Amino acid sequence: MTSTPTQVQQARPQARLDARRAAQSGTRWGLGHAVPWAALRVSARGGDLHARALMEANRAGAMPVEVFDEIRAAGQLYRSRLSYVTAHLDTVKEVLGSPDVRAGIDRVGGGVLGRLGEWAQASAPIGPLQPPSLLAIEPPDHTRLRRLVTRVFSAKAVRQLEERTEQIADRLLDDLVEASGRGEVVDVVELYCARLPVQVICEILGVPLEESDLVRAFGAGAAPSLDMGLGLPTFLGVDRSLRRFDEWLDRHVERVRREPGDDLLSQLVAARDDDGTALTDVELKNTAGLVLAAGFETTVNLIGNGIALLAEHPDQRAAAVADDQMWANVVEEVLRYDPPVLLTGRTVERDTTIAGTPVRAGSLVTTLLAGANRDPSVFTDPHAFDVTRPEAKEHVSFSSGRHYCLGASLARMEGRVALQRLHERFLDLQVRPGARRRSTRILRGYLTLPVALGA
Ligand code: HEM
Repeated sequence: MTSTPTQVQQARPQARLDARRAAQSGTRWGLGHAVPWAALRVSARGGDLHARALMEANRAGAMPVEVFDEIRAAGQLYRSRLSYVTAHLDTVKEVLGSPDVRAGIDRVGGGVLGRLGEWAQASAPIGPLQPPSLLAIEPPDHTRLRRLVTRVFSAKAVRQLEERTEQIADRLLDDLVEASGRGEVVDVVELYCARLPVQVICEILGVPLEESDLVRAFGAGAAPSLDMGLGLPTFLGVDRSLRRFDEWLDRHVERVRREPGDDLLSQLVAARDDDGTALTDVELKNTAGLVLAAGFETTVNLIGNGIALLAEHPDQRAAAVADDQMWANVVEEVLRYDPPVLLTGRTVERDTTIAGTPVRAGSLVTTLLAGANRDPSVFTDPHAFDVTRPEAKEHVSFSSGRHYCLGASLARMEGRVALQRLHERFLDLQVRPGARRRSTRILRGYLTLPVALGA
């Protein structure tokens, strides 16, 4: 069939739009990934410790603790070619609590490149690091939005979810037994660690259970968005996942508005500030998206990392199983030793001092959360995994300051229930060969963890 002249005329603007979008995506990739990664390689070859740490972290699952130690030994605030960096717990907290910094790292900067970056950003999908995400805004907007969300995500709300989480864990463990048949090896990440937080967060946000696999797939597709140095195909795949997630969120928020339930998203729709203001549509959708993604892309890793560490340290596992009061501290030690989030970054807004060093506006600061968790001035024998250590909870795996993880108490509860229920039921659980870590670098955890459940 041949096209009519009108169809041809209509197709031209669409083709131009597509071409512009493709050029913008390519530019975003170049400025955000290809160029910084090339600079990183050169810096690493020149001996820059920060670049070396990032290159080493690039090997799936590796945690460059020795380089973190070197960075810490170099001073409170190490000046790398890319940014200031710190692996000292007190300085990490100082940076994250400072009113002179804003969340996020601007990889492009000002000038011509900055303008090119702004142009390219115009067609970017809304992600967890773009406004109005809580992770990308600052006071007063951040204070208002966070206050509203915290009203719904209260400690009381989390306590009420504990019993339901236990039921979900027990049902998943029954399924695990069934899947293992007569002692077959099963992937505990796929069947347990990933399913538990997704099901909990879906219930919290009123997502029907049959859509939870879809949500999980969006999350997995979008998880590399936090990393630097993505290849073009991965970058475009992340973009596609974020767009699909965004379209799905539109439909979901609309559904919750139409038929509110007793879930927390329905409460968020109805939440009002003291002066009567509610969340805007974009804020609501973005917050729901952030809570969904942050809610399971990290907690799955906490549970998986915990299972692997306890299997490597059977004496500590036995001590925890013998004393059910110990599980809360087990979770803290897992978070400290093998944190699900490697690092975070800040951009300095105005000239300031950090740890006594003058730092100019526009500078970048990388806070190595995983490095601060091994700071020997806070943690005795920091490279030892010890579930009884009294200071385990001092870690910064949930960040610090005003962006401190909003879901920390939920994640702690889920981690405790998941690890305790699993280990109390399968005392002889053993990890079998074939474990693989995820390829994401900022988000750290297992992709596959084959286990034999034992008796
Ligand atoms: C083990 C699990 C988790 C870890 C390790 C974790 C880690 C983090 C970290 C490091 C930040 C701050 C990043 C920064 O300062 O730049 C953060 C923020 C956040 N997390 Fe979590 N998280 C976890 C689970 C959750 C859960 C279950 C939820 C769901 C409610 C959640 C929701 C959020 C939100 C909404 C923020 C943004 C807070 C703000 O900017 O004010 N997280 N999380």
